[in-house]
Amino acid sequence: MARGAEGALLLFLICFDFGNGLHFEVLHSRNESKLLPKHIHPVRQKRAWITAPVALREGEDLSRKNPIAKIHSDLAEEKNLKITYKYTGKGITEPPFGVFVFNKDTGELNVTTILDREETPFFLLTGYALDERGKNLEKPIELRIKVLDINDNEPVFTQDVFVGSVEELSAANTLVMKITATDADEPNTLNSKISYRIVSQEPASSPVFYLNKDTGEIYTTSITLDREDNNDPPLGICCLVSAISHMW
Ligand SMILES: *[C@@H]1O[C@H](CO)[C@@H](O)[C@H](O)[C@H]1NC(C)=O
Ligand SMILES: *[C@@H]1O[C@H](CO)[C@@H](O)[C@H](O)[C@H]1NC(C)=O
Repeated sequence: MARGAEGALLLFLICFDFGNGLHFEVLHSRNESKLLPKHIHPVRQKRAWITAPVALREGEDLSRKNPIAKIHSDLAEEKNLKITYKYTGKGITEPPFGVFVFNKDTGELNVTTILDREETPFFLLTGYALDERGKNLEKPIELRIKVLDINDNEPVFTQDVFVGSVEELSAANTLVMKITATDADEPNTLNSKISYRIVSQEPASSPVFYLNKDTGEIYTTSITLDREDNNDPPLGICCLVSAISHMW
């Protein structure tokens, strides 16, 4: 079994759609990506090849991006061995099943469904190159598939009704309360950033509240609140607020 130090390498060739045809991208460990045109055969090196994470956008038909990845055994090709490729992991051998399918002869991997990041934010697959007896001809290789977020979740208020109170004759800019909403999109991105606004308030003629659109904090304006003046409705003041997610 003279598999020399330069070793058999399982190359993971990943097809990226750059908009002007397919390229193969091969990432090398501890080095930056190298773009190799299709016709150039990657040169074997001592270090193992690793895979670039594949990024797929949620909520869209990805069929034209297929195959999204491909494993290729250098050794099998060099020695002209009959090889069977296999993938395992979430989306194939673990639920949700059927997200990916592969061709055992070519090593090509296809995505078959529309992805939902809020359901599965990423997939970790393992690729195998097996010989005729079903043994690993190459060291199994990992493929990470990240699902890219789109702004597909509307913000939802954490309570149906927020009740606040403020003393009468409070100074201007007194913090009355804070309203909050949440959004299931990817945290700390624009997709999940929420803006608040006051839709209406009573009395409308002289608004007594303003709101910080980023924090949801509601403050008094310089209009003096006088409970006895605002007896209709009895508690004086009410606000209707809405939350929107950016880019909605
Ligand atoms: C990475 O690859 C480039 C050539 O593509 C080479 O010039 C550079 O030295 C390599 N860096 C490391 C850290 O191996
Ligand atoms: C993967 O998709 C390509 C392109 O649509 C198709 O030619 C190929 O047959 C598909 N392979 C499998 C295993 O579904």
